[in-house]
Amino acid sequence: MPLSCPRALSAQSVVIAILLLVPLAVPGCRQPGTTASPAASPDDETRFQPTATVEDLMRSLIDPAADAIWDAVVIRSTLDGLDEQRPETDEDWAALERSALHLVEAGNLLRIEGRAIAGPESVSEMPGIDLDPDAIALLVAANADSWGRSAREIHDVGVLLLAATRARDVDALLKGGSRLQVACESCHSRFWYPPMPSTGEDEP
Ligand code: HEC
Repeated sequence: MPLSCPRALSAQSVVIAILLLVPLAVPGCRQPGTTASPAASPDDETRFQPTATVEDLMRSLIDPAADAIWDAVVIRSTLDGLDEQRPETDEDWAALERSALHLVEAGNLLRIEGRAIAGPESVSEMPGIDLDPDAIALLVAANADSWGRSAREIHDVGVLLLAATRARDVDALLKGGSRLQVACESCHSRFWYPPMPSTGEDEP
């Protein structure tokens, strides 16, 4: 069939063309009001660009934020009695609020699809104990729901910590800190150094 202008196409083929999402731009037949389709596919512009690896997020964002929360309140027993260190100044609390915000959004970043686990140069540091990035990626792909829930928990604990920092509530900070530890550990024990090979089941 010779190439013809869209107006000349039969109704049936126009419907098929629309269904297939084929652009109706035939060279030389541009209709008033339509613009040239951009060179880049719309997907490239609307998709997330997960440049950092999961390992990068752990090192640069999640671990430092968690450490700041865990180190904020320290109670030591000394010969002179209890030595308590807790956030006091506006700057102390503002720094903790930033860390809580990092955790809140890190929980979302971990759920963006297509993010690599680690760079190509990264290998397991304790072969036989922790998994290498390829094995982790397979496990994540096979247990996407569980991964998503673990990441979501970082977000949710982050929200509690954020409220604690804004209310300057040390008890809530400590409680959130403990729950954060469980959240990190449960994902690591499932995806980073699982006790035994996965059965591939999507259990929490
Ligand atoms: C959704 C799952 C998940 C959660 C939640 C999670 N991690 Fe991780 N973490 C991983 C995986 C997977 C790796 C292994 C990545 C790699 O190095 O190959 C890792 C690795 C790490 C590493 C080692 C990075 C390196 O240098 O190799 C640190 C540190 C770490 N996580 C800290 C934390 C802390 C702290 C938390 C909680 C605040 C946390 N993670 C929560 C999945 C998670």
